[in-house]
Amino acid sequence: MSQAQTKSPLNIEYCRDDFPCINQEVNGHPLVFLDSAASSQQPSTVIDAIARYQREDHANVHRGVHTLSHRATELYEGARDKVRDFINAASRNEIVLTSGTTESINLVAQSFCRPMLKSGDQVLISWLEHHSNIVPWQLVCEQTGAELVVAPINDSGEIDVDAMIAMMTEQVKILAVGHVSNALGTINPLPKIIASAKNMGIPVLVDGAQGVPHMSVDVQSLDCDFYAFSGHKMLGPTGTGVLWGREALLEAMPPYKGGGDMILEVSFDKTVFNELPYKFEAGTPNISGTIGLGAAVDYLQMVGMNNIYEHEKVLHTYMVERISAVDGIHLIGTAKNRASVQSFRLNDIHPHDLGTILDHQGIAVRTGHHCAMPVMQRFGLPGTTRASLGLYNNADDINRLVDALEKARQIFT
Ligand code: ALA
Repeated sequence: MSQAQTKSPLNIEYCRDDFPCINQEVNGHPLVFLDSAASSQQPSTVIDAIARYQREDHANVHRGVHTLSHRATELYEGARDKVRDFINAASRNEIVLTSGTTESINLVAQSFCRPMLKSGDQVLISWLEHHSNIVPWQLVCEQTGAELVVAPINDSGEIDVDAMIAMMTEQVKILAVGHVSNALGTINPLPKIIASAKNMGIPVLVDGAQGVPHMSVDVQSLDCDFYAFSGHKMLGPTGTGVLWGREALLEAMPPYKGGGDMILEVSFDKTVFNELPYKFEAGTPNISGTIGLGAAVDYLQMVGMNNIYEHEKVLHTYMVERISAVDGIHLIGTAKNRASVQSFRLNDIHPHDLGTILDHQGIAVRTGHHCAMPVMQRFGLPGTTRASLGLYNNADDINRLVDALEKARQIFT
């Protein structure tokens, strides 16, 4: 057994058996799944919760007096309560169920920012952001005449926090920053960033898509104003996500979409909107997906977020040590504090070619710009190869990756 496995606080082999999709052969080799930052695998408990609901309990929520509708509503609202507990939100009214991080951020841009932004105002982000934490702000800036301003990053892929703080002027009406970079794995120093923004009275949105799956998140102690994340990166299904927002802010915000379920009363003269959080949940929601998200939260809590963090940290250190030793490897993203992700180049091999060679050996990684083109531009690269970890990975996965990289290097020399 490797050192990484010995030190891991998780009984990882037990966890691996819970994830049917990783236990298969791809291209004649046992699959090594190192693409959890794009979308994580789901445990059987999530798959079963969705199937059970669909077989036994399916009906629309909040609408029926019949038994199935009650059951569906209980399961759906139960998932909201699980999410509330998981991130320690003060109230279930603060948990808006969305289709994912992207929708959560667009909701804030359009509902919180659009009515108040005007020419001369600024939206502050960092150079590290995923497109979903860039483009919604560009859109709202175009709509309002506000300006998007971008805090720089250094050669390690860390936000220049002093520069960011210097940019926190009275013109800035919102700061939107990632928790963990999806492209480089950098864990941003949120306590310092958020405290500085609060000092200036600037509301803060955190893109937590790559934070929530890998570490314990407590929105009350973080002290941000909005926290957005996706279900499918935290062992849940695609098309699910959460916007957490402070109740007072959500209360004051207008609806983002109109339709059924977000109203109390409708006439052609006037519509009275529903209370929180339903005001932001127009139309029939993703009921089965949200029930799956609740099951994902149960699974993460059963394993323990601190155990997951420690396990992935040991494994990340091992991964960095091993791949750094491969001749011709150049790490992209060397921040002191990083989690679960490592980007790299191997000589001048195009990442897509490298990804294809790895796939032939059963290794799944992501290649390209990782929906973070400005990060790639900052490093003067069209893309990288990225290995990203989930709680089900082990040291053998890393050993297989390294063997496959060696083989690729030989093929291309
Ligand atoms: N945001 C996803 C990734 O990082 C798609 O791969």
